[in-house]
Amino acid sequence: MRGRIPDSFIDELLARVDIVDVIERRVPLKKAGREWTACCPFHNERTPSFYVSPAKQFFHCFGCGAHGSAVKFLMDYERLEFPDAVEELAQSVGLTVPREGGDDRVQREDKTDLYALLDAAAGWYEKELPKNADAQAYCKKRGLDAQTIQRFRIGWAPAGFDGVIKALGGSDRRMQLLNEAGMVASSERGSRYDRFRERLMFPILDRRGRVIAFGGRVLQSDQGPKYLNSPETPLFHKGRELFALWQVKQANASLTRIVVVEGYMDVIAMHQAGLPIAVATLGTATTPEHTEVLFRAAPDVVFCFDGDRAGRAAAWKALEAALPRLRDGRQAYFLFLPDGEDPDTLIRKEGKDGFEKRLKAATPLSEYFFGELAHDVDTASLDGRARLAERARPLIARLPDGAFRDLMAQELEKRTGARATLDTLPAPRSALQRPTVAQRSLVRSAIASLLAQPGMADQVERPYGFLRLDKPGVELLAELIDTARSRPGINPAVLVEHFAERPEYPALQKLMAALVVGEPEAQRAEFFGALQRMEEQAVIQRRDWLTAKSRDGTLDSAEKAELRELLARRVTTPPA
Ligand code: UTP
Ligand code: MN
Repeated sequence: MRGRIPDSFIDELLARVDIVDVIERRVPLKKAGREWTACCPFHNERTPSFYVSPAKQFFHCFGCGAHGSAVKFLMDYERLEFPDAVEELAQSVGLTVPREGGDDRVQREDKTDLYALLDAAAGWYEKELPKNADAQAYCKKRGLDAQTIQRFRIGWAPAGFDGVIKALGGSDRRMQLLNEAGMVASSERGSRYDRFRERLMFPILDRRGRVIAFGGRVLQSDQGPKYLNSPETPLFHKGRELFALWQVKQANASLTRIVVVEGYMDVIAMHQAGLPIAVATLGTATTPEHTEVLFRAAPDVVFCFDGDRAGRAAAWKALEAALPRLRDGRQAYFLFLPDGEDPDTLIRKEGKDGFEKRLKAATPLSEYFFGELAHDVDTASLDGRARLAERARPLIARLPDGAFRDLMAQELEKRTGARATLDTLPAPRSALQRPTVAQRSLVRSAIASLLAQPGMADQVERPYGFLRLDKPGVELLAELIDTARSRPGINPAVLVEHFAERPEYPALQKLMAALVVGEPEAQRAEFFGALQRMEEQAVIQRRDWLTAKSRDGTLDSAEKAELRELLARRVTTPPA
């Protein structure tokens, strides 16, 4: 076991780092008063409910409830265990993590040792490469230069059944680790042997550059499966890792575009040709986890596939994996290559420029999406359009809320005449003439419906006519509207939090708690209906006051004019 990290160190560490820094480096933050805000990285959303407080050194998402310190953020965001998150944070501020108890040799065992062992294995394979003439010739045939071999730490697993075991498995503990790392296989009789033999070895690195697995290629096609990958291990999850992501990040300080290709050699050829923006999945389909990792690396992701049936099927899988991750600002493209070509062969034929041209001409997801769904339907017929709508709707529904989803829904409507969503119907006029409620609850009802849909604040006419109404809560309503206006997309809970230090806060919270999320249109009608009623009430109030004053004979000329005007408007008193 590694020694325990003392609590006092965690305190010191958290005092030393700034959570805003830590998060900002991973999720772009916007200033919002004394806090910072962003769309939550832990759930899909269109409007920011993720808040980072520098004063409290705390993050909180009002949408999904995620919250915690800088350490907790790293654990959640980078999927790190607690000690690794602490290590990473400590490193970022130049601190060394002290450990309590245990002597040093024992301390380095456990996960760290697995990493160390895999790193040693990569080193061993690297050293073996120059010793084998066939492997050398193969590298030459594939056009791999020395720098590329070094950058990707390409190596050679020699023939024989115990090369790695002899080199690295010197103790029971080490044998156990080799086994855990997927470097050895067991025969039926239980004897252990090297998993990788006579293969060109490609180390797979994690996002911190540590070796976590290998892929190995045979030199000739009759020597078993072309590529053999490490099995799933505690360090290696195929559905999450991308080959060469580390190299991509090393080569690019900031990245606007990342390209996903199918194979190890495709990635390597692109890097060598001067396009260090390629990664590959590891013999699996693209998963939603992959797409999240990809979009965190770059806003534009190009999926590049063979143009054959298998490639098309893989592309559609990638599209499905990408849909739920397509927040605004992220874009996916699809690039299909001519028959019989892959990026490796193409870039050698066409060079970097030729391949870049193809990348630039990649098909945007929306186009690929509708093209693929419509390819066997006749959109000139009603039936065909209905079928297209039926296919597209559930997929569009998987997109996160946002402008892109709205655009896709509009596009579907344009192509089929069918609506993708139901919440775009115009307001029923009759709903405005609801039975009038008592005046105090008119204000309440306006506030409650505003809390349900803060976005409506934008459409309230200025100056606020209802402000003339002399009733408790009217000012609060105006402030709520102002706050919601100044923070487009604010969510109800956050809106209420802006009033945390106010005497009205408990009342607002109660309203929030009692909030029934109803039909947006009904709520709209209630809100604007209430505002209109309040204005009418204000006019009546003023008219009555001026009338009383005129009885006393104390109206000045301006007031007289106002009263005449008000009487001419003949506003009727609503039933109490
Ligand atoms: P390809 O067969 O298209 O490989 O498999 P490639 O990259 O073009 O390989 P070369 O050019 O012949 O060397 C694409 C990817 O599928 C996985 C590997 O990750 C490979 O890079 N694969 C393929 C396997 O995992 N096992 C296999 O047997 C074959
Ligand atoms: Mn190939």
